[in-house]
Amino acid sequence: MKDLEIIDEELVKAFSNLPEGFWDFKNDDTKELTHSIHNYPAVMVYPISRNILSIMNQYRPATLLLDPFMGSGTVLLEGLLAGFTEVYGNDLNPLAQKISKAKTTVIESDLDHAFHDFSEKLQQKYESYTNILEDIDLYISEHHYDITAKINDKDNWGANACKILNDYLSKYDSDLVIPDIENMGYWFVPRCVIELQIIRTLIFEISDIDLRDYFMIAFSETTRLVSNRRNGEFKMYRMEPEKVAVYKPDVRMTYLDTLSSNISKMKELRKRVAHRALGSVHLSHEDSRILQSVPDRSIDLVITSPPYGDSRTTVAYGQFSRVSLQWCDYDKLSYKEIIDIDKNLMGGTSFKKGFKNNLPSISLQKALSEILKNPDNLERAGDVFSFYKDLNDVLGAVTKKCRTNAYQFWVVGNRTVKEVSLHTDQILVELGEQFGLKHIMTMDRTISNKVMPSLNSPTNVSGKKVKTMCEELIVVLRKE
Ligand SMILES: C[S@@+](CC[C@H](N)C(=O)[O-])C[C@H]1O[C@@H](n2cnc3c(N)ncnc32)[C@H](O)[C@@H]1O
Repeated sequence: MKDLEIIDEELVKAFSNLPEGFWDFKNDDTKELTHSIHNYPAVMVYPISRNILSIMNQYRPATLLLDPFMGSGTVLLEGLLAGFTEVYGNDLNPLAQKISKAKTTVIESDLDHAFHDFSEKLQQKYESYTNILEDIDLYISEHHYDITAKINDKDNWGANACKILNDYLSKYDSDLVIPDIENMGYWFVPRCVIELQIIRTLIFEISDIDLRDYFMIAFSETTRLVSNRRNGEFKMYRMEPEKVAVYKPDVRMTYLDTLSSNISKMKELRKRVAHRALGSVHLSHEDSRILQSVPDRSIDLVITSPPYGDSRTTVAYGQFSRVSLQWCDYDKLSYKEIIDIDKNLMGGTSFKKGFKNNLPSISLQKALSEILKNPDNLERAGDVFSFYKDLNDVLGAVTKKCRTNAYQFWVVGNRTVKEVSLHTDQILVELGEQFGLKHIMTMDRTISNKVMPSLNSPTNVSGKKVKTMCEELIVVLRKE
């Protein structure tokens, strides 16, 4: 296979000539096409990858693209639109794989017909379950169940919702069976569970797999929207009990609205790619430190945004996905496997009792020594080390998959731990050297569209907030 052309100078010139603030995309619509069919934490807005791809395409058209941390699949869809023939996406979170699949699979069948057919059937189902839906709240109060009960109140609604509802349904001789979802009563009010199960059963009856997956993604989003979670947060916190007590989400409307909006987006995508042969998408959900599913020395462009390194404290991808993974029965995962997702993500290994830092990065070494000046910080320093150790392994695995002269674009965020700045962009450059990665340039951008906490308390002193994560850096590397 011919080596890829080196275009360092052209790229530096093209990227340096961009106007100030080019990468900020403050006022851009970041939701076009199927990009916004499902919420996901820390999405990298699509104009970033679209612009990288369009500049790269001017100098060196490429064919194989990889995002080892695909999340909701933003980069993959942009890769397809940019004309890549093969697009590889990976993420340890199975929900990321499902969203990415739905986002990048163009559905050719008649979506309007499918929507009308589904809503009609749903209407009939609701009619046939009228008594069940109308009497449930009375049943719950007559049996003195408290719908605001905590999980440790073993026989109450919070921990026992599945059994309570199945007992109730058996009195009606109903064919509905409520799935055994962990802590379901804590996250959902009774009528909401029954309605979700009615919709879910109907989705499972759809025989066209792509259509079913697309309808299921709208359902997955619905389970989060109608749950008792507090609004606008990626970490799962329940609403105040007073709010739960009177919470009556309109489940059917929420689902149909989400579905209808997603269908419009799919129709938009279909129009955009009409009469074009789209490339193939290869999705996997394995650990990016291994990346077995991607052929060695095959990739000619990488665009990715790894986690910031705060998955356990701020952006818990697994926790965000827990409820939908169970409701949608994705990959038939056990609850233990679902709980373990966050543990297996980057930085998930705990080094509470100490660690030996042998990573070749001066910037990391300095930051760790600074944090460790206070011996009480050993555990936090261990968390920091754990993240960069994994990042180092991912960098090695990704580079192994690249052809010589492949470019890698890493969109990273620097953060502060115990008031010490962690310069991930610089650490990445230093770690890259051992894998033969040449640093080409680093650009910065101000985050305005990324849904992220802009303040946290790395000092863990209550009330003391340090501004963090409002700037991202785009690090460009080339495999020599
Ligand atoms: C910042 S998000 C990516 C967001 C994505 N660019 C988007 O636009 O939606 C980082 C992703 O890395 C994934 N991740 C973390 N550790 C991983 C690992 N060891 N292997 C594979 N994926 C991992 C998380 O599940 C999360 O989806």
